Amino acid sequence: MSEGVDPILNEQLKKLQAKYNVMGQDLSSYLDGLLYADYLTYWDYIHLDTLLSLQSPKTSFPDEKIFIVYHQITELYFNLILWETEQIANNQAITEVWFLDRIKRVNRYFHQLRESFSIMVEGMEKDQFLKFRMSLLPASGFQSAQYRLIEISCTDMINLVNAAERPALTEYSDIDLQVEKLSWRSGATEWATGKKTLTLQQFEEKYLPTFKAMGMRYRDKNIRKTYLKYFPDSKPVIDALRELDTYANVLWPLAHMKASGHYLHKAEQDIKATGGTNWQKFLPPRFQKIMFFPELWSDLEKEEWGKAAFLSNPSETFLAS
Ligand code: HEM
Repeated sequence: MSEGVDPILNEQLKKLQAKYNVMGQDLSSYLDGLLYADYLTYWDYIHLDTLLSLQSPKTSFPDEKIFIVYHQITELYFNLILWETEQIANNQAITEVWFLDRIKRVNRYFHQLRESFSIMVEGMEKDQFLKFRMSLLPASGFQSAQYRLIEISCTDMINLVNAAERPALTEYSDIDLQVEKLSWRSGATEWATGKKTLTLQQFEEKYLPTFKAMGMRYRDKNIRKTYLKYFPDSKPVIDALRELDTYANVLWPLAHMKASGHYLHKAEQDIKATGGTNWQKFLPPRFQKIMFFPELWSDLEKEEWGKAAFLSNPSETFLAS
C-alpha cells in the first residue's frame, strides 16, 4: 500500500483484498464499480415509488384508500412478527434474555396494531365504507395468511383446533386431522346456509398446503415449545407470554370486532360481511377461546376468556396501557 495512506484505510484495504481473494475476485475491478456507482438515496433504499404504487382502489370513494393502506400496514407488522418467531424457532443457542427481548418485540407490534385499529373504527365515513365494501366481495381480511402463520408459529396446531374437538386429538396427531378441525375453518360458514363461504374455499385452496407444511416445521420449535423446553419456570418469560396471548387472542380480536360492530351492526339485522360469514358467532374471543399458552392461565381465566371480567383483572397491568 502507498505511503501516506491512512493506516485504518490501509487495514480495510487488506481485509477487502483477503475477502475478494477467497472468492478469486479482482478487488480493483470492484473498487472501480464503487467509483462509478451512484450514492444510495432514501427513496431507492425503501423502494418508496413502488410502495406508493401498491394501492389500487376498486371504487372512487376516497376512504377506500385508508382501508387498503391500513390493511397493508397491518400485513407489514404481521411480517415483522413472523420475522421474530422465525428467528426464535431457528436459534440453536437461545438464552432467556434474548428470547424475552424477541417476545417483547412481538408484543410491541401487537400493541401498535391494537392501538391503531381506531383508524378503521373511527377513521372512515360509514356511508363510503358500506358502499365500497360491496366492490370487494368476496375478499376479506379473513384471508390473511400471515395471521394464520403467526398462530402456527406461536403454538401447537392442537391449540388452534375447535375447543370441542381438542380432546380427541394430541399435539402429535396426524397434521391432516388437526388442520381439518382448525377453528377458523368451521367459523367461516355462510350466514344463511351453513355451507363453506367462497372466501373460505378460495383461501383453503391457495394456502392449506402452506399451513400444513408450516405446522410440521414448527411442531417442535414454535414459541410454546421453546418456552416449555428452555424457560418453563421463568417469571419474566411467563409474564411476556401471557401478554402475547392477551394481545393476539383477546385485545386485537376485540379491537377488530369493534370495527365489525361499528360498520356491520344494524339494530334490526346485522349486515352481511364481505366474506358472508356468521361473524357475530365467530369473531368474539369468548367464543373462539384460542390460547397459545393454555398452561399459563387458570381455569377461571380460561372461563372468563375475552369477557369483561378478564379484561378488568387488576393483575394484568399491561392492559391498562
Ligand atoms: C372496517 C374494518 C374491518 C371490518 C368491518 C372487518 C370485518 C371482518 C369480518 C366481518 C370478518 C369475518 C369474516 C368475514 O365474514 O369476512 C373478518 C375477519 C377477519 N379480518 Fe377483518 N374487518 C376489518 C378490518 C380488518 C383489518 C384491517 C384486518 C387486518 C389484516 C383484518 C383481518 C381479519 C382477519 C385476520 C379475520 C379472521 C379473524 C379470525 O379468524 O378470528 N380485518 N373481518
